Amino acid sequence: MNSGAKKILFVASEAYPLVKTGGLGDVVYSLPHALHARGADVRLLLPGYRALLRQLDQVRILGWLDVRGAEGIVSVRILETRHPEYAFPLWVVDCPSLFDRPGNPYVGASGQDWPDNAERFAVFARVAALLGLDALDTGWQPEVVHTHDWQTGLVAAFLADQPARPKTVFTIHNLAYGGYFSHGDFVRLQLPSHWWSPESVEFHGGFSMLKAGIVYADAVTTVSPTYAAEICTPEFGFGLDGLLLSFKHKLHGILNGIDTKIWNPSTDKHLSAQYSSSRILPGKRRNKQSLIEHFLPQADDAAMQAPLLGQVGRLVEQKGIDWVLAAIPVLLAETNARFVLLGSGQTIYEQKLIRLAKQHPERVFVEIGYDELLAHQIEAGADMFMMPSRFEPCGLNQMYSLNYGTPPIVFKTGGLADTVVDADKTTLKDATANGFVFETPDVASFLNAIRRALALYQKPAQWRKLQQTGMRQSFDWADSAGHYLALYSTSISEDSHVIHTH
Ligand code: ADP
Ligand code: GLC
Repeated sequence: MNSGAKKILFVASEAYPLVKTGGLGDVVYSLPHALHARGADVRLLLPGYRALLRQLDQVRILGWLDVRGAEGIVSVRILETRHPEYAFPLWVVDCPSLFDRPGNPYVGASGQDWPDNAERFAVFARVAALLGLDALDTGWQPEVVHTHDWQTGLVAAFLADQPARPKTVFTIHNLAYGGYFSHGDFVRLQLPSHWWSPESVEFHGGFSMLKAGIVYADAVTTVSPTYAAEICTPEFGFGLDGLLLSFKHKLHGILNGIDTKIWNPSTDKHLSAQYSSSRILPGKRRNKQSLIEHFLPQADDAAMQAPLLGQVGRLVEQKGIDWVLAAIPVLLAETNARFVLLGSGQTIYEQKLIRLAKQHPERVFVEIGYDELLAHQIEAGADMFMMPSRFEPCGLNQMYSLNYGTPPIVFKTGGLADTVVDADKTTLKDATANGFVFETPDVASFLNAIRRALALYQKPAQWRKLQQTGMRQSFDWADSAGHYLALYSTSISEDSHVIHTH
Protein backbone atom coordinates (compact mmCIF):
# COMPACT_ATOMS: atom_id res chain seq x y z
CA MET A 1 0.00 0.00 0.00
CA ASN A 2 1.19 3.43 -0.96
CA SER A 3 2.61 5.00 2.22
CA GLY A 4 1.12 8.40 1.36
CA ALA A 5 -2.42 6.97 1.35
CA LYS A 6 -4.84 8.34 3.90
CA LYS A 7 -5.17 5.91 6.81
CA ILE A 8 -8.77 5.49 7.86
CA LEU A 9 -10.09 3.32 10.66
CA PHE A 10 -13.74 2.41 10.11
CA VAL A 11 -15.56 1.42 13.28
CA ALA A 12 -19.01 -0.15 13.07
CA SER A 13 -21.29 -2.73 14.62
CA GLU A 14 -22.20 -4.58 11.42
CA ALA A 15 -20.84 -5.17 7.93
CA TYR A 16 -22.14 -7.15 4.95
CA PRO A 17 -21.74 -10.11 4.37
CA LEU A 18 -20.41 -11.03 7.81
CA VAL A 19 -23.20 -9.59 9.92
CA LYS A 20 -26.01 -7.42 8.65
CA THR A 21 -29.36 -6.29 10.02
CA GLY A 22 -30.05 -3.47 7.55
CA GLY A 23 -28.60 -0.80 5.31
CA LEU A 24 -25.86 0.08 7.80
CA GLY A 25 -24.22 -3.27 7.02
CA ASP A 26 -24.34 -2.54 3.28
CA VAL A 27 -22.78 0.90 3.67
CA VAL A 28 -20.05 -0.30 6.01
CA TYR A 29 -19.08 -2.79 3.30
CA SER A 30 -19.36 -0.63 0.21
CA LEU A 31 -18.18 2.80 1.37
CA PRO A 32 -14.74 1.68 2.64
CA HIS A 33 -14.30 -0.32 -0.56
CA ALA A 34 -15.07 2.78 -2.61
CA LEU A 35 -12.48 4.68 -0.53
CA HIS A 36 -9.97 1.86 -0.88
CA ALA A 37 -10.49 1.92 -4.65
CA ARG A 38 -9.58 5.61 -4.52
CA GLY A 39 -6.30 4.91 -2.77
CA ALA A 40 -7.25 5.11 0.92
CA ASP A 41 -5.57 2.73 3.39
CA VAL A 42 -8.50 1.29 5.34
CA ARG A 43 -9.04 -1.00 8.33
CA LEU A 44 -12.51 -1.98 9.54
CA LEU A 45 -13.02 -2.72 13.24
CA LEU A 46 -15.99 -4.93 14.21
CA PRO A 47 -17.15 -6.66 17.39
CA GLY A 48 -16.34 -10.37 17.53
CA TYR A 49 -19.89 -11.73 17.48
CA ARG A 50 -20.17 -15.51 17.33
CA ALA A 51 -21.69 -15.40 13.84
CA LEU A 52 -18.75 -13.33 12.67
CA LEU A 53 -16.01 -15.37 14.38
CA ARG A 54 -17.43 -18.47 12.72
CA GLN A 55 -16.73 -17.01 9.29
CA LEU A 56 -13.11 -16.12 9.93
CA ASP A 57 -10.42 -18.29 8.54
CA GLN A 58 -6.86 -17.30 9.38
CA VAL A 59 -6.47 -14.79 12.17
CA ARG A 60 -3.45 -13.10 13.62
CA ILE A 61 -3.46 -11.72 17.13
CA LEU A 62 -2.55 -8.05 16.92
CA GLY A 63 -2.42 -7.74 20.70
CA TRP A 64 -4.32 -7.47 23.94
CA LEU A 65 -5.99 -4.45 25.54
CA ASP A 66 -7.42 -4.02 29.04
CA VAL A 67 -10.26 -1.55 29.32
CA ARG A 68 -12.87 -0.66 31.90
CA GLY A 69 -16.13 -2.60 31.74
CA ALA A 70 -19.17 -2.51 34.00
CA GLU A 71 -17.59 -4.56 36.77
CA GLY A 72 -13.90 -3.91 36.53
CA ILE A 73 -11.35 -4.49 33.83
CA VAL A 74 -12.25 -6.38 30.65
CA SER A 75 -9.47 -7.96 28.62
CA VAL A 76 -9.91 -8.10 24.88
CA ARG A 77 -7.87 -9.55 22.06
CA ILE A 78 -7.58 -7.70 18.79
CA LEU A 79 -7.57 -10.05 15.84
CA GLU A 80 -6.52 -9.18 12.34
CA THR A 81 -7.92 -11.20 9.49
CA ARG A 82 -8.43 -11.16 5.74
CA HIS A 83 -11.77 -12.06 4.25
CA PRO A 84 -12.31 -13.00 0.60
CA GLU A 85 -14.97 -10.31 0.22
CA TYR A 86 -12.72 -7.62 1.68
CA ALA A 87 -9.91 -5.84 -0.11
CA PHE A 88 -8.39 -4.59 3.16
CA PRO A 89 -7.72 -6.08 6.62
CA LEU A 90 -10.49 -6.55 9.15
CA TRP A 91 -9.85 -5.99 12.84
CA VAL A 92 -12.05 -7.81 15.31
CA VAL A 93 -12.58 -7.10 19.03
CA ASP A 94 -12.56 -10.56 20.52
CA CYS A 95 -14.22 -10.48 23.93
CA PRO A 96 -16.27 -13.66 24.45
CA SER A 97 -18.12 -12.45 27.56
CA LEU A 98 -19.60 -9.54 25.60
CA PHE A 99 -19.88 -10.72 22.01
CA ASP A 100 -19.59 -14.48 21.68
CA ARG A 101 -23.28 -15.30 21.88
CA PRO A 102 -25.83 -16.56 19.38
CA GLY A 103 -28.19 -14.41 17.40
CA ASN A 104 -28.51 -10.77 16.58
CA PRO A 105 -25.85 -8.14 17.34
CA TYR A 106 -28.27 -6.00 19.35
CA VAL A 107 -31.11 -8.16 20.63
CA GLY A 108 -31.50 -11.59 22.22
CA ALA A 109 -33.80 -14.40 21.10
CA SER A 110 -36.81 -12.77 22.78
CA GLY A 111 -36.37 -9.63 20.70
CA GLN A 112 -35.31 -7.57 23.72
CA ASP A 113 -32.09 -5.54 23.69
CA TRP A 114 -29.18 -7.45 25.20
CA PRO A 115 -29.24 -6.23 28.84
CA ASP A 116 -25.52 -5.42 28.76
CA ASN A 117 -25.58 -3.35 25.55
CA ALA A 118 -24.24 -0.31 27.42
CA GLU A 119 -21.18 -2.25 28.48
CA ARG A 120 -20.77 -4.05 25.14
CA PHE A 121 -20.60 -0.87 23.12
CA ALA A 122 -18.75 1.20 25.73
CA VAL A 123 -16.01 -1.43 25.76
CA PHE A 124 -16.03 -1.60 21.96
CA ALA A 125 -15.70 2.20 21.82
CA ARG A 126 -12.88 2.32 24.37
CA VAL A 127 -10.98 -0.25 22.33
CA ALA A 128 -11.63 1.63 19.08
CA ALA A 129 -10.34 4.85 20.61
CA LEU A 130 -7.17 3.09 21.80
CA LEU A 131 -6.60 1.63 18.33
CA GLY A 132 -7.15 5.12 16.94
CA LEU A 133 -4.11 6.09 18.99
CA ASP A 134 -2.22 2.97 17.91
CA ALA A 135 -2.08 1.75 21.51
CA LEU A 136 -0.83 -1.63 20.28
CA ASP A 137 2.15 -0.05 18.55
CA THR A 138 1.34 -1.70 15.25
CA GLY A 139 2.88 1.19 13.36
CA TRP A 140 -0.49 1.86 11.72
CA GLN A 141 -1.87 5.08 13.17
CA PRO A 142 -5.07 6.25 11.47
CA GLU A 143 -5.44 9.87 10.45
CA VAL A 144 -9.21 9.53 10.55
CA VAL A 145 -11.50 7.40 12.68
CA HIS A 146 -14.88 7.09 10.98
CA THR A 147 -17.61 5.79 13.28
CA HIS A 148 -21.23 4.81 12.55
CA ASP A 149 -24.42 5.09 14.59
CA TRP A 150 -24.93 5.01 18.35
CA GLN A 151 -22.95 1.80 18.91
CA THR A 152 -19.79 3.76 18.14
CA GLY A 153 -20.87 7.17 19.45
CA LEU A 154 -18.52 7.12 22.44
CA VAL A 155 -15.38 6.70 20.29
CA ALA A 156 -15.17 10.39 19.40
CA ALA A 157 -15.84 11.31 23.04
CA PHE A 158 -12.99 9.11 24.31
CA LEU A 159 -10.66 10.60 21.69
CA ALA A 160 -11.71 14.24 22.06
CA ASP A 161 -9.16 15.31 24.67
CA GLN A 162 -6.28 13.11 23.55
CA PRO A 163 -3.17 14.83 22.22
CA ALA A 164 -2.09 14.05 18.64
CA ARG A 165 -5.35 12.27 17.97
CA PRO A 166 -6.87 11.34 14.62
CA LYS A 167 -9.74 13.30 13.18
CA THR A 168 -13.14 11.85 14.10
CA VAL A 169 -16.11 11.54 11.76
CA PHE A 170 -19.46 10.26 13.02
CA THR A 171 -22.16 9.15 10.58
CA ILE A 172 -25.79 9.07 11.66
CA HIS A 173 -27.57 6.33 9.73
CA ASN A 174 -30.71 6.60 11.80
CA LEU A 175 -31.47 9.15 14.51
CA ALA A 176 -34.33 6.98 15.80
CA TYR A 177 -31.84 4.72 17.58
CA GLY A 178 -30.23 6.86 20.27
CA GLY A 179 -28.29 4.35 22.34
CA TYR A 180 -30.00 5.53 25.55
CA PHE A 181 -28.81 4.12 28.85
CA SER A 182 -29.32 4.89 32.52
CA HIS A 183 -27.36 6.96 34.98
CA GLY A 184 -26.62 3.66 36.73
CA ASP A 185 -24.88 2.39 33.60
CA PHE A 186 -22.98 5.67 33.33
CA VAL A 187 -21.64 5.20 36.85
CA ARG A 188 -20.94 1.47 36.51
CA LEU A 189 -19.01 2.06 33.28
CA GLN A 190 -16.99 4.77 35.03
CA LEU A 191 -17.49 7.19 32.17
CA PRO A 192 -15.74 10.52 32.82
CA SER A 193 -17.81 12.49 35.33
CA HIS A 194 -17.53 15.73 33.34
CA TRP A 195 -19.56 14.06 30.60
CA TRP A 196 -22.58 14.15 32.90
CA SER A 197 -23.97 17.46 31.66
CA PRO A 198 -26.58 18.57 29.13
CA GLU A 199 -23.79 19.95 26.90
CA SER A 200 -22.23 16.51 26.88
CA VAL A 201 -23.79 13.04 26.79
CA GLU A 202 -26.56 13.47 29.38
CA PHE A 203 -30.01 13.15 27.89
CA HIS A 204 -33.30 13.26 29.82
CA GLY A 205 -31.95 11.75 33.02
CA GLY A 206 -29.84 9.12 31.28
CA PHE A 207 -27.21 9.32 28.59
CA SER A 208 -27.14 8.83 24.85
CA MET A 209 -24.25 7.30 22.93
CA LEU A 210 -25.61 8.84 19.74
CA LYS A 211 -25.50 12.28 21.35
CA ALA A 212 -21.88 11.64 22.33
CA GLY A 213 -21.00 11.14 18.67
CA ILE A 214 -22.80 14.32 17.66
CA VAL A 215 -21.21 16.44 20.39
CA TYR A 216 -17.63 15.17 20.19
CA ALA A 217 -16.95 14.19 16.58
CA ASP A 218 -15.06 16.73 14.51
CA ALA A 219 -17.49 16.19 11.66
CA VAL A 220 -20.96 14.65 11.70
CA THR A 221 -22.50 13.28 8.56
CA THR A 222 -25.82 11.76 7.72
CA VAL A 223 -26.81 9.75 4.72
CA SER A 224 -28.79 12.18 2.55
CA PRO A 225 -28.98 15.97 2.18
CA THR A 226 -32.73 16.06 2.87
CA TYR A 227 -32.35 14.02 6.07
CA ALA A 228 -29.56 16.37 7.20
CA ALA A 229 -32.05 19.23 7.01
CA GLU A 230 -34.96 17.22 8.47
CA ILE A 231 -33.12 16.15 11.63
CA CYS A 232 -32.63 19.81 12.56
CA THR A 233 -36.43 20.10 12.97
CA PRO A 234 -38.59 18.89 15.88
CA GLU A 235 -40.62 16.61 13.59
CA PHE A 236 -37.62 14.40 12.74
CA GLY A 237 -35.14 15.35 15.47
CA PHE A 238 -36.01 12.84 18.25
CA GLY A 239 -35.25 15.58 20.77
CA LEU A 240 -31.80 16.20 19.29
CA ASP A 241 -32.88 18.78 16.69
CA GLY A 242 -31.77 21.78 18.79
CA LEU A 243 -28.37 20.22 19.35
CA LEU A 244 -27.99 19.33 15.68
CA LEU A 245 -29.00 22.82 14.64
CA SER A 246 -26.35 24.29 16.92
CA PHE A 247 -23.78 22.00 15.26
CA LYS A 248 -24.99 22.72 11.74
CA HIS A 249 -21.54 23.98 10.77
CA LYS A 250 -20.13 20.46 11.13
CA LEU A 251 -23.17 18.53 9.82
CA HIS A 252 -23.05 17.21 6.24
CA GLY A 253 -25.65 15.30 4.25
CA ILE A 254 -23.91 12.88 1.90
CA LEU A 255 -26.13 10.54 -0.11
CA ASN A 256 -25.30 6.84 0.18
CA GLY A 257 -24.40 4.92 -2.93
CA ILE A 258 -25.20 1.32 -3.75
CA ASP A 259 -22.79 -1.47 -4.54
CA THR A 260 -23.32 -2.07 -8.23
CA LYS A 261 -21.26 -5.26 -8.14
CA ILE A 262 -23.81 -6.82 -5.81
CA TRP A 263 -26.96 -5.03 -6.98
CA ASN A 264 -26.93 -5.09 -10.76
CA PRO A 265 -29.67 -6.87 -12.77
CA SER A 266 -27.34 -7.53 -15.69
CA THR A 267 -24.90 -9.57 -13.59
CA ASP A 268 -26.94 -10.66 -10.53
CA LYS A 269 -26.39 -14.42 -10.04
CA HIS A 270 -29.39 -14.66 -7.70
CA LEU A 271 -31.79 -14.07 -10.58
CA SER A 272 -33.41 -16.58 -12.94
CA ALA A 273 -32.50 -14.27 -15.80
CA GLN A 274 -30.28 -11.23 -16.07
CA TYR A 275 -31.53 -8.17 -17.91
CA SER A 276 -30.59 -4.60 -18.71
CA SER A 277 -32.26 -1.32 -19.56
CA SER A 278 -32.10 -1.91 -23.31
CA ARG A 279 -34.01 -5.20 -23.00
CA ILE A 280 -36.07 -5.37 -19.84
CA LEU A 281 -39.16 -7.38 -20.54
CA PRO A 282 -38.15 -11.01 -21.18
CA GLY A 283 -35.74 -11.12 -18.24
CA LYS A 284 -38.09 -9.40 -15.89
CA ARG A 285 -40.91 -11.76 -16.85
CA ARG A 286 -38.74 -14.80 -16.10
CA ASN A 287 -37.94 -13.36 -12.70
CA LYS A 288 -41.57 -12.57 -12.02
CA GLN A 289 -42.52 -16.12 -12.90
CA SER A 290 -39.90 -17.69 -10.61
CA LEU A 291 -40.82 -15.32 -7.83
CA ILE A 292 -44.51 -16.22 -8.02
CA GLU A 293 -43.63 -19.91 -8.27
CA HIS A 294 -41.61 -19.60 -5.09
CA PHE A 295 -44.97 -19.14 -3.37
CA LEU A 296 -47.48 -20.83 -5.70
CA PRO A 297 -46.99 -24.11 -7.56
CA GLN A 298 -47.70 -22.45 -10.89
CA ALA A 299 -47.65 -18.90 -12.16
CA ASP A 300 -50.72 -18.99 -14.39
CA ASP A 301 -51.67 -16.30 -16.88
CA ALA A 302 -53.77 -14.35 -14.41
CA ALA A 303 -50.88 -14.17 -12.00
CA MET A 304 -48.43 -13.11 -14.68
CA GLN A 305 -50.78 -10.42 -16.02
CA ALA A 306 -51.57 -8.90 -12.64
CA PRO A 307 -49.24 -6.19 -11.33
CA LEU A 308 -47.02 -7.49 -8.55
CA LEU A 309 -46.11 -5.04 -5.78
CA GLY A 310 -43.09 -5.90 -3.65
CA GLN A 311 -41.62 -4.85 -0.35
CA VAL A 312 -38.47 -5.84 1.51
CA GLY A 313 -37.50 -4.43 4.84
CA ARG A 314 -37.54 -4.24 8.57
CA LEU A 315 -41.12 -4.54 9.84
CA VAL A 316 -41.17 -1.43 11.99
CA GLU A 317 -43.24 1.73 12.06
CA GLN A 318 -40.47 3.72 10.34
CA LYS A 319 -41.08 1.76 7.15
CA GLY A 320 -44.82 2.53 7.05
CA ILE A 321 -45.62 -1.17 7.25
CA ASP A 322 -48.92 -0.29 8.98
CA TRP A 323 -49.88 1.76 5.89
CA VAL A 324 -49.01 -1.19 3.69
CA LEU A 325 -51.18 -3.44 5.87
CA ALA A 326 -54.06 -0.99 5.60
CA ALA A 327 -53.65 -0.47 1.84
CA ILE A 328 -53.49 -4.12 0.76
CA PRO A 329 -57.12 -5.09 1.60
CA VAL A 330 -58.39 -1.99 -0.23
CA LEU A 331 -56.35 -2.87 -3.31
CA LEU A 332 -57.35 -6.52 -3.16
CA ALA A 333 -60.97 -5.43 -3.42
CA GLU A 334 -60.40 -2.71 -5.98
CA THR A 335 -57.82 -4.18 -8.34
CA ASN A 336 -56.24 -7.45 -9.50
CA ALA A 337 -52.85 -6.51 -7.93
CA ARG A 338 -50.78 -9.07 -6.04
CA PHE A 339 -48.25 -8.53 -3.31
CA VAL A 340 -44.97 -10.05 -2.25
CA LEU A 341 -43.46 -9.03 1.06
CA LEU A 342 -40.27 -10.08 2.83
CA GLY A 343 -39.31 -8.82 6.24
CA SER A 344 -38.84 -9.35 9.90
CA GLY A 345 -39.28 -7.11 12.87
CA GLN A 346 -42.06 -6.37 15.33
CA THR A 347 -44.13 -9.46 16.09
CA ILE A 348 -47.44 -7.66 15.64
CA TYR A 349 -46.64 -6.76 12.01
CA GLU A 350 -45.23 -10.22 11.31
CA GLN A 351 -48.46 -11.79 12.57
CA LYS A 352 -50.70 -9.44 10.61
CA LEU A 353 -48.81 -10.16 7.40
CA ILE A 354 -48.98 -13.91 7.94
CA ARG A 355 -52.73 -13.64 8.55
CA LEU A 356 -53.23 -11.61 5.36
CA ALA A 357 -51.26 -14.15 3.33
CA LYS A 358 -53.35 -17.00 4.79
CA GLN A 359 -56.57 -15.19 3.87
CA HIS A 360 -55.39 -14.52 0.29
CA PRO A 361 -52.94 -17.30 -0.57
CA GLU A 362 -53.18 -16.60 -4.30
CA ARG A 363 -52.58 -12.89 -4.05
CA VAL A 364 -50.53 -12.06 -0.97
CA PHE A 365 -47.15 -13.77 -0.66
CA VAL A 366 -45.30 -13.29 2.59
CA GLU A 367 -42.00 -14.52 3.89
CA ILE A 368 -41.01 -13.62 7.42
CA GLY A 369 -37.30 -13.71 8.06
CA TYR A 370 -34.07 -12.46 6.61
CA ASP A 371 -33.33 -13.76 3.14
CA GLU A 372 -30.71 -12.04 1.01
CA LEU A 373 -31.49 -14.20 -2.04
CA LEU A 374 -35.21 -13.54 -1.98
CA ALA A 375 -34.53 -9.81 -1.49
CA HIS A 376 -32.73 -9.77 -4.85
CA GLN A 377 -35.47 -11.84 -6.46
CA ILE A 378 -38.19 -9.48 -5.25
CA GLU A 379 -36.29 -6.44 -6.57
CA ALA A 380 -36.13 -8.16 -9.97
CA GLY A 381 -39.44 -10.02 -10.09
CA ALA A 382 -41.86 -7.43 -8.74
CA ASP A 383 -43.34 -4.79 -11.04
CA MET A 384 -43.20 -1.99 -8.49
CA PHE A 385 -41.74 -1.53 -5.03
CA MET A 386 -43.54 -0.10 -1.99
CA MET A 387 -41.44 1.99 0.39
CA PRO A 388 -43.78 4.37 2.20
CA SER A 389 -41.35 5.15 5.03
CA ARG A 390 -42.44 7.84 7.50
CA PHE A 391 -38.81 8.88 7.62
CA GLU A 392 -35.87 7.43 5.74
CA PRO A 393 -32.33 8.66 6.39
CA CYS A 394 -31.29 7.40 2.97
CA GLY A 395 -32.82 4.06 2.06
CA LEU A 396 -31.06 1.62 -0.22
CA ASN A 397 -34.00 -0.47 -1.35
CA GLN A 398 -35.49 2.31 -3.48
CA MET A 399 -32.15 2.66 -5.29
CA TYR A 400 -31.96 -1.11 -5.80
CA SER A 401 -35.48 -1.10 -7.22
CA LEU A 402 -34.72 1.85 -9.50
CA ASN A 403 -31.76 -0.02 -10.92
CA TYR A 404 -33.84 -3.22 -11.28
CA GLY A 405 -36.60 -1.52 -13.30
CA THR A 406 -39.07 -1.83 -10.44
CA PRO A 407 -40.33 1.73 -9.92
CA PRO A 408 -40.60 2.62 -6.23
CA ILE A 409 -43.63 4.20 -4.56
CA VAL A 410 -42.32 6.36 -1.72
CA PHE A 411 -43.20 9.08 0.78
CA LYS A 412 -41.34 12.32 0.18
CA THR A 413 -38.79 12.19 2.97
CA GLY A 414 -35.03 11.89 3.52
CA GLY A 415 -33.13 9.92 0.91
CA LEU A 416 -36.39 8.89 -0.78
CA ALA A 417 -37.03 12.54 -1.63
CA ASP A 418 -33.46 12.83 -2.91
CA THR A 419 -33.62 9.84 -5.26
CA VAL A 420 -37.19 9.32 -6.49
CA VAL A 421 -38.82 11.70 -9.00
CA ASP A 422 -42.60 11.53 -9.11
CA ALA A 423 -44.20 10.61 -12.41
CA ASP A 424 -46.37 13.54 -13.44
CA LYS A 425 -47.10 15.11 -16.82
CA THR A 426 -43.93 17.18 -16.89
CA THR A 427 -41.50 14.60 -15.55
CA LEU A 428 -42.91 11.89 -17.80
CA LYS A 429 -42.48 14.17 -20.76
CA ASP A 430 -38.92 15.19 -19.99
CA ALA A 431 -38.05 11.61 -18.93
CA THR A 432 -36.93 12.50 -15.43
CA ALA A 433 -39.74 10.51 -13.74
CA ASN A 434 -38.53 7.28 -12.13
CA GLY A 435 -41.22 6.41 -9.56
CA PHE A 436 -44.14 7.67 -7.51
CA VAL A 437 -43.94 10.08 -4.59
CA PHE A 438 -46.68 11.07 -2.16
CA GLU A 439 -46.43 14.10 0.05
CA THR A 440 -48.94 13.64 2.87
CA PRO A 441 -48.01 10.98 5.41
CA ASP A 442 -51.18 8.88 5.47
CA VAL A 443 -52.76 5.78 3.95
CA ALA A 444 -55.05 7.71 1.62
CA SER A 445 -52.13 9.47 -0.07
CA PHE A 446 -50.15 6.23 -0.25
CA LEU A 447 -53.15 4.54 -1.90
CA ASN A 448 -53.46 7.36 -4.40
CA ALA A 449 -49.83 7.00 -5.36
CA ILE A 450 -50.32 3.25 -5.86
CA ARG A 451 -53.42 3.89 -7.99
CA ARG A 452 -51.40 6.27 -10.16
CA ALA A 453 -48.70 3.62 -10.49
CA LEU A 454 -51.24 0.94 -11.44
CA ALA A 455 -52.77 3.24 -14.06
CA LEU A 456 -49.39 3.96 -15.66
CA TYR A 457 -48.54 0.25 -15.60
CA GLN A 458 -51.39 -0.19 -18.08
CA LYS A 459 -49.50 2.00 -20.56
CA PRO A 460 -46.54 -0.20 -21.52
CA ALA A 461 -44.58 2.36 -23.52
CA GLN A 462 -44.69 4.97 -20.75
CA TRP A 463 -43.98 2.33 -18.14
CA ARG A 464 -40.90 1.16 -20.00
CA LYS A 465 -39.63 4.73 -20.17
CA LEU A 466 -40.10 5.06 -16.42
CA GLN A 467 -38.19 1.82 -15.84
CA GLN A 468 -35.39 2.86 -18.18
CA THR A 469 -34.92 6.19 -16.48
CA GLY A 470 -34.34 4.46 -13.13
CA MET A 471 -32.17 1.72 -14.60
CA ARG A 472 -29.92 4.18 -16.38
CA GLN A 473 -29.34 6.35 -13.34
CA SER A 474 -26.11 5.89 -11.52
CA PHE A 475 -26.27 5.45 -7.76
CA ASP A 476 -22.74 4.20 -7.36
CA TRP A 477 -20.40 5.57 -4.71
CA ALA A 478 -18.22 7.74 -6.97
CA ASP A 479 -19.54 11.18 -5.94
CA SER A 480 -20.19 10.32 -2.31
CA ALA A 481 -16.79 8.71 -1.80
CA GLY A 482 -15.28 11.93 -3.13
CA HIS A 483 -17.27 13.96 -0.58
CA TYR A 484 -16.03 11.75 2.26
CA LEU A 485 -12.42 12.00 1.08
CA ALA A 486 -12.71 15.78 0.96
CA LEU A 487 -14.15 15.77 4.46
CA TYR A 488 -11.35 13.56 5.79
CA SER A 489 -8.85 16.01 4.35
CA THR A 490 -10.05 19.15 6.09
CA SER A 491 -8.12 19.69 9.28
CA ILE A 492 -9.80 19.41 12.66
CA SER A 493 -9.62 23.14 13.29
CA GLU A 494 -11.14 23.92 9.89
CA ASP A 495 -14.20 21.83 10.73
CA SER A 496 -15.46 24.31 13.25
CA HIS A 497 -15.33 27.19 10.75
CA VAL A 498 -16.31 25.94 7.34
CA ILE A 499 -20.00 25.95 6.56
CA HIS A 500 -20.76 23.05 4.24
CA THR A 501 -23.72 23.16 1.96
CA HIS A 502 -23.86 19.88 0.08
P1 ADP B 1 -32.71 0.14 6.76
O1 ADP B 1 -31.24 0.25 6.87
O2 ADP B 1 -33.45 1.24 7.44
O3 ADP B 1 -33.21 -1.19 7.18
P2 ADP B 1 -32.23 0.36 3.87
O4 ADP B 1 -33.17 0.45 2.72
O5 ADP B 1 -31.17 1.36 3.94
O6 ADP B 1 -33.10 0.32 5.20
O7 ADP B 1 -31.45 -1.04 3.81
C1 ADP B 1 -32.05 -2.25 4.08
C2 ADP B 1 -31.11 -3.34 3.61
O8 ADP B 1 -31.41 -4.53 4.32
C3 ADP B 1 -31.25 -3.68 2.16
O9 ADP B 1 -30.04 -4.22 1.68
C4 ADP B 1 -32.34 -4.75 2.19
O10 ADP B 1 -32.33 -5.57 1.06
C5 ADP B 1 -31.95 -5.49 3.43
N1 ADP B 1 -33.05 -6.17 4.10
C6 ADP B 1 -33.92 -5.67 5.00
N2 ADP B 1 -34.75 -6.61 5.45
C7 ADP B 1 -34.41 -7.74 4.82
C8 ADP B 1 -34.89 -9.09 4.85
N3 ADP B 1 -35.92 -9.44 5.63
N4 ADP B 1 -34.28 -10.00 4.09
C9 ADP B 1 -33.24 -9.66 3.29
N5 ADP B 1 -32.74 -8.42 3.21
C10 ADP B 1 -33.31 -7.47 3.96
C1 GLC C 1 -30.30 3.24 8.25
C2 GLC C 1 -31.45 3.97 7.61
C3 GLC C 1 -31.49 3.85 6.12
C4 GLC C 1 -30.11 3.98 5.50
C5 GLC C 1 -29.16 3.00 6.16
C6 GLC C 1 -27.75 3.08 5.60
O1 GLC C 1 -30.59 1.98 8.67
O2 GLC C 1 -32.70 3.60 8.18
O3 GLC C 1 -32.34 4.86 5.58
O4 GLC C 1 -30.16 3.74 4.12
O5 GLC C 1 -29.08 3.26 7.52
O6 GLC C 1 -27.20 4.37 5.75
